[in-house]
Amino acid sequence: MKKTILIAAAAALMGLAAQPAMAEVDGAKVFSKKCKMCHAIDRKKVGPAVKDMNTDTAVLKTTITEGRKSMPKFGSKLSEEEIDAVVSYLASQHQD
Ligand code: HEC
Repeated sequence: MKKTILIAAAAALMGLAAQPAMAEVDGAKVFSKKCKMCHAIDRKKVGPAVKDMNTDTAVLKTTITEGRKSMPKFGSKLSEEEIDAVVSYLASQHQD
């Protein structure tokens, strides 16, 4: 009985471990975890509203990676994939 449970648990763990490697990073999730305290989509908080941000994704990426004034730098806190995902998310929220 115990052995069966152990085997089932091991199989479940292996299943879990095999999954995340291919999972895509969710930019919206990165945003709500790391950025939402200072940025909102359509109003100014500590930082500018997402819809008023620069539309050049290269500028967005540089600002997020290196920081600017009171905008913290995320180059060492987020992976390249996470930064790219959050940049696409910001770009998708632009309205004019
Ligand atoms: C501690 C508050 C704070 C956090 C957390 C924060 N920001 Fe900022 N952000 C700012 C401030 C303040 C500015 C304005 C900087 C300036 O005056 O140049 C800014 C500016 C920016 C800009 C530049 C906008 C433009 O038009 O050039 C981008 C892009 C940006 N933030 C994205 C993000 C992202 C993405 C995150 C999360 C990974 C994040 N910020 C987290 C405060 C923050």
